[in-house]
Amino acid sequence: MHGLASDRLYGIFATDETQLQNSRGNPEVGRGLAFQREPFSAGDTMTDQGSSRPSDASIDKRFATSVLHGLSMRPRRIASKWLYDDEGARLFEEIVASPAYYVPRAEKAILSEYAAEISGAVGRGLGLLELGSGASSKVRILLDQLESLRCYVPVEISEAQLLEAAEEIRRDYPHLPVFPIVADFTERFDLPRAAGEGPLMVFFPGSTLCNMLPGDSVAFLRRMREVVGPAGFFLAGVDLKKDEETMLRAYNDPGGPIWRFNLNILERLNRELGCELDPAAFRHEAIYNREAGRIEAAIYPNADQTMALDGGQFVLPEGEPIVLEYSHKYRIEEFQALAREAGWLPREAWTDRDRLFSVHLLAS
Ligand SMILES: C[S@@+](CC[C@H](N)C(=O)[O-])C[C@H]1O[C@@H](n2cnc3c(N)ncnc32)[C@H](O)[C@@H]1O
Repeated sequence: MHGLASDRLYGIFATDETQLQNSRGNPEVGRGLAFQREPFSAGDTMTDQGSSRPSDASIDKRFATSVLHGLSMRPRRIASKWLYDDEGARLFEEIVASPAYYVPRAEKAILSEYAAEISGAVGRGLGLLELGSGASSKVRILLDQLESLRCYVPVEISEAQLLEAAEEIRRDYPHLPVFPIVADFTERFDLPRAAGEGPLMVFFPGSTLCNMLPGDSVAFLRRMREVVGPAGFFLAGVDLKKDEETMLRAYNDPGGPIWRFNLNILERLNRELGCELDPAAFRHEAIYNREAGRIEAAIYPNADQTMALDGGQFVLPEGEPIVLEYSHKYRIEEFQALAREAGWLPREAWTDRDRLFSVHLLAS
């Protein structure tokens, strides 16, 4: 029996990294998304400086609660999913094009070289579920190769980017049913009926899985195994441990797209939560935490900053990080151990010629 039934909700774990989500139902995308905005209260307000604050009714309470929660942690944190508003999604595409950020290049090289092998290993007639699909560019390599795909289901928190990418896929693959779903993949979301009518493969590129803490990754992988059922697959892009200089160069570009992508969170905080922060008073830096085996990308106030939020004022002290993203790096066998812990059977792992990145195929 296959693990899917057409009208079920599939619960995906809320993780430490992404426990609170911001997703809106949209009749055009997916079905029955389980989230709603809960307004604080109505009314526009002006700050003392005369700048416009968002109306309380327009404030996304989940975003506000998530930020409050993250700022109470030490180090302070803001979950990385909030980086991807429209401008964040646009800036991420600039990062993808930057020479030092090796991830997209290496991952595409692997997918291109091994697409036929992947296709042979997973067989015909799959439904393809992509998590954090962004611009849906890497998946095209699979769409060109996988045989008799039943459907493509991109799941993405960045709604405008998702809809645009889905339209482009529809245009370029006119016979492929495409069901975009705007959702937080760490939360429950509904799958289209077509996805449940045969075997499924989850595609999770970009090393986005590695933004989760290792324990959360195991819980997430376990949950995804339930989603695909006993005859499913998981194809994951996973960044490899490598020399620190290469990693630090990839995640640090003062004034460049990575810098602007991370500082853009301050514009979002101001616009959506009325935080009254000065983006020019912060800098971005990523460090490598050797013990934890991860890049830690953070923004740092250049001097004490006061932040308005939810009727209160918070001090962000000079030089103390606000962590925006962990990016764990795994040796092949380290990631396979996580996958086994979650009940998956590692089938194959491919790397690029420079051994910068890996793509893992897991069977349920
Ligand atoms: C590192 S980017 C990778 C984009 C694309 N898959 C690639 O490999 O180039 C992460 C993507 O996941 C999306 N994302 C991050 N957290 C998410 C979440 N909790 N739920 C849904 N989408 C999420 C972001 O909007 C973004 O498009």
